[in-house]
This record gives sequence, C-alpha cells and structure tokens, in this order.
Amino acid sequence: MKKETLFIAIGNQKGGVGKSTITATIASYLQYQMNMSVAIIDCDFPQYSIYKMRETDIETINKNKDLQVLLQKQFHNSNKKAYPIIAGTPENAIDLAVELTENSATTFDIVFFDLPGNVTSEGILKLMFNLNYIFVPIIADKRVLQSSLSFILAVKEFLGRKDINKRLNDVFIFWNKVDRRESTELYSMFNKVLKSENLSVLKTIIPDAKKYNKELSILKPTAFRSTLFAPDKKMLKGSNLEELVLEIIEKIGL
Ligand SMILES: Nc1ncnc2c1ncn2[C@@H]1O[C@H](COP(=O)(O)OP(=O)(O)OP(=O)(O)O)[C@@H](O)[C@H]1O
Ligand SMILES: [Mg+2]
Repeated sequence: MKKETLFIAIGNQKGGVGKSTITATIASYLQYQMNMSVAIIDCDFPQYSIYKMRETDIETINKNKDLQVLLQKQFHNSNKKAYPIIAGTPENAIDLAVELTENSATTFDIVFFDLPGNVTSEGILKLMFNLNYIFVPIIADKRVLQSSLSFILAVKEFLGRKDINKRLNDVFIFWNKVDRRESTELYSMFNKVLKSENLSVLKTIIPDAKKYNKELSILKPTAFRSTLFAPDKKMLKGSNLEELVLEIIEKIGL
C-alpha cells in the first residue's frame, strides 16, 4: 500500500508574490538536499515559468561540462534524479497528479501545484479544494494584502463548510520579500488583522534577497533557484529557506 502523497500549493490570487520561486526552490531543496520525492504540476498557463525554468536549466547544463560533472555528483550523492515537472491546467492538474502518483514506481511525498496568479480561471477552485494544504505568500504592499486577505478568507470559509466533501486540511500564510529596512508598521498591523480572523501565519519570514533570482548560468555554476540543483549552500545563509521548509514539514506532519 503506497503511503499518501500530499498535494500542496504555494498559492495566492495575487501575481508576483513569489509563488513559482518559492515552489521551485523548496521542491529542489526537498528532493536534492532532504532525500524526499517530489513533483511539480505547473498549472500557470501560458507562463509556465517553472516548466520553462527546467528547459533553461537543461540547456545551460548541456553547454557546460563542469555543470554536467556537478550534476552527476549531486545525483550520485543524493541518489536522486531530477523530479518530474508536468505542464497542465487548473482543470486537469489533479488528474495529472493522480496519474503520476499511481503509475510511477516512485512514492512521492509531495506533489506541488504552481497556480496562476488569478483565481478566476476555470477549474482553479476545484483544484484548490482538492489540495491538502495551501501556503499563501504575502508581501508588504497594501493592494496585495487586501487581495490576499479576501483570497485567504474565501479559502477559510470553504474549509469551514461541512456540506462539502473536501481534501483541503488547512491554509497557512507567510511573509515573503520582507525588507528589514522598512518600517514594521504594515507588518504588525496586518498580522493583527490575520490574528483577529484566526488565520495561521508561519513564524519564518523570507527576506527580500537578490539571491532568490539567482539561476544557473554557464559563467557561474552556483544557483539558488534551479529545478536541477539544490539551492547553493552558501546562498542558503540568511535566506531562511531551510527554516521555511522545516516549518512547512512540521505543519503538514511529514
Ligand atoms: N524573497 C524574494 N526576494 C527577492 N525577490 C524575490 C523573492 N521571491 C520572489 N522574488 C522575485 O519576485 C518576482 C516574482 O516572483 P515569482 O515569479 O516567483 O512570483 P509569482 O507569484 O509566481 O508570479 P506570477 O503570479 O506572475 O506567477 C521574481 O522576479 C522573483 O525572482
Ligand atoms: Mg508564478
């Protein structure tokens, strides 16, 4: 009997909050650093930023012998191959995930879903309600916070409904792109709002750091955001990515 695979999305109805970046870096950290088995269903049609990230990663590695050696070494040490990334749509994403988990020899711990930045698209609600957990990245921008709050409250309201059979267990919020130089007023004000609505905010805060954009290049064999390599150990310092991964693992009971 295969153990249950958890379906998780780093999602928000707001664009540009870091959904794809956080999804790709966490997936690579879990697969290549923590010996877990993950997969990604990229439902962010037509952008497909994670699916395209994999294509670029492969192209870059094919052009650089040193990167090929590094990749072999990582696969050898982690005994893990590249995790699958499948392009889909909100409508067929769950079916693609079920097909993958049922037909693959691998027992996946987590299948991540990279959602589009708007929840009006067809099938997105059905998809979200068939997930086990949703983690909502928020950033300190009044417009983004307003829109994020209505998204989170809609998910929370759904979670409370007894008349619907659902897979969704819980929704958690976390701060991304936090600039420590900025005043904390907006953060503390918004955390109060979230608390008053009994919403769960993760302790881990992800800083606004250029390294989150750092992808593989033939000139520089170290990357933070790659679908084929774990985030570079040196770059992990100060990123709080490991802290976020451990807190998420604790919340989902893995
Ligand atoms: N912690 C961070 N620090 C600095 N830059 C970040 C951080 N997280 C994400 N970014 C940058 O913010 C931009 C938006 O990130 P990303 O594309 O992951 O967001 P998204 O929510 O997936 O957007 P979309 O809705 O368009 O899919 C990217 O340039 C990304 O590199
Ligand atoms: Mg995205």
